Amino acid sequence: MIGIECRALTKKFMKGETTITPLDSLDLVIEPGSFLALMGPSGSGKTTLLNLIAGIDRPTSGELLVDGLDIAHLSRSRLARWRAEKVGYIFQLYHLVPVLTAYENVELPLLIHPLSRKERHARVQRALELAGIADRHDHYPRQLSGGQEQRVAIARAIVADPPLLLADEPTGDLDRESSTAILKLLRKLSEDLGKTLLVVTHDIATTDYAQATLHLEKGRLVTEPGEEQRHA
Ligand SMILES: Nc1ncnc2c1ncn2[C@@H]1O[C@H](COP(=O)(O)OP(=O)(O)O)[C@@H](O)[C@H]1O
Ligand SMILES: [Mg+2]
Repeated sequence: MIGIECRALTKKFMKGETTITPLDSLDLVIEPGSFLALMGPSGSGKTTLLNLIAGIDRPTSGELLVDGLDIAHLSRSRLARWRAEKVGYIFQLYHLVPVLTAYENVELPLLIHPLSRKERHARVQRALELAGIADRHDHYPRQLSGGQEQRVAIARAIVADPPLLLADEPTGDLDRESSTAILKLLRKLSEDLGKTLLVVTHDIATTDYAQATLHLEKGRLVTEPGEEQRHA
């Protein structure tokens, strides 16, 4: 299981003459194996935080330890390898490749791992089964509902067995019933497989499934959500 530690974590972007600070000296400890929801108004830095933890982007300053490792200072190639092994990323709009079947989409992340065909097949099959979508393995994304597409995307995120799953509004485009199914699936991945999960959401139902909810406002964690959040 993998834990995360952020100390005075800061991210700044330069936009012409102005500096934007989506993350402002953030302190956060995520215990190994926990399932946390992350809420906050649009523009509060949620995606920025996920991207830093995923090693997709680097902090401007501060410390970021994932599983005790200072990922902010790894070389590009080591960071890419680390990411392929440790991180599964789930998006609001699934990002499946339209010309590949569900099976082939899930297989994609394994192609950079040195595995036999047989082992690769076994892993894809297991991921599809865990995500509850094995019966649709030969369907193309356009032949699937949104909820089914998200299951395929989750299978793809877990196929390399990463200990850390990051999801950016995974139920944002789904109806209530499909959302509930996806939230149950995420909880199962946390409870049964010990994955550490950080889920960005606007969907208050997520907080019923997560162990705790973090609230981000203007790049800082707050204990009480502000007006905008409460009435969203
Ligand atoms: N690559 C970037 N370049 C410049 N500004 C960015 C970049 N990424 C995010 N921002 C800015 O940082 C702020 C926080 O963005 P983001 O983390 O996407 O917020 P959220 O996911 O909470 O809606 C926004 O003001 C956004 O415009
Ligand atoms: Mg976002």
